Amino acid sequence: MKSKPSRNLALELVRVTEAAALGAGRYMGRGDKEAADAAAVDAMRLVLNSIEMDAVVVIGEGEKDRAPMLFNRERLGTGAPPEVDFAVDPIDGTRPVAKGMTNAIATVAIAPRGTMYDPGPFMYMNKIAVGPSAKGIIDIQAPVAYNLEKIAKAKDKHINDLTVVVLDRPRHEKLIREIRECGARIFQIMDGDVAGAMMTAWPDSGIDVLMGIGGTPESVLAACALRGMDGEIQGIFYPRNEDEKKRALDLGMDMNTVITMDDLVSSDDVFFAATGITDGELLKGVKYFRHGARTDSLVIRGKTGTVREIIAYHNFEKLNPISEIEY
Ligand code: FBP
Repeated sequence: MKSKPSRNLALELVRVTEAAALGAGRYMGRGDKEAADAAAVDAMRLVLNSIEMDAVVVIGEGEKDRAPMLFNRERLGTGAPPEVDFAVDPIDGTRPVAKGMTNAIATVAIAPRGTMYDPGPFMYMNKIAVGPSAKGIIDIQAPVAYNLEKIAKAKDKHINDLTVVVLDRPRHEKLIREIRECGARIFQIMDGDVAGAMMTAWPDSGIDVLMGIGGTPESVLAACALRGMDGEIQGIFYPRNEDEKKRALDLGMDMNTVITMDDLVSSDDVFFAATGITDGELLKGVKYFRHGARTDSLVIRGKTGTVREIIAYHNFEKLNPISEIEY
């Protein structure tokens, strides 16, 4: 059914991620992860509560007692419709921000109420993500070689032309060995697999596929982005120890169940925004000038598939006198 253009909430959400990036960007290389995170969260709060929505945090900063703000099940927005689920990672890549390294972003997503996956206590997944040209052919349960062959064929490339983005972790030793045996190239990132997943659908990144174990909350955010970018992500839970395995079995969970993109977010009506904090393959980090700063963001709408890159120049001389927080 045809309809008139409707509100694009992502265009409002980008002000939230810009604010977070401007706050966190001040802490680049200063060795203080907590301060960077607090600055991002404080900056987000002001903008978030001005947005007309009735949002419930599904993917947040953890439980109420541990997180002063953006905790799971917290209500955000003005309380007026639409009723939505909310996912946030004020800094995906707190370590790179603290160390002054690449690939940290601020990110949020919203989707209709009840459509976002709640990871519960299961914090890690083994995942695979691709962009539009390799959508529909990946299989997280299949060997690495199978997936790389399929992706190469779908992209009309040789396997040794493929670049796989992988988090730099000791747990990926076997995965890296298998990718090398296939002849594909590897691009390791210190942190930030939301950006890693999005790179696979971003033509200029040169990245073909994301593989490896990372956060389940990050998979939900990546799924929201990839819905609009026409990519795909799949995963399987990765219990870190026997205790997590037992908890899963007690909850009646089958650890071999494939979590699809539809499981992670079951609606196309999603809105996603991300702003670079430090420079990465996806987005440029915050650049400060004498009286302001420049931010680089992506704004994505699932329903229409529109992906906007927004470069903004912020004037602190004008903002600071009227803002509740100092930029
Ligand atoms: P935070 O900066 O939000 O803590 O997460 C960074 C991150 O690299 C994610 O992108 C990734 O999914 C997860 O951490 C991996 O977890 P771990 O660092 O424990 O391997």
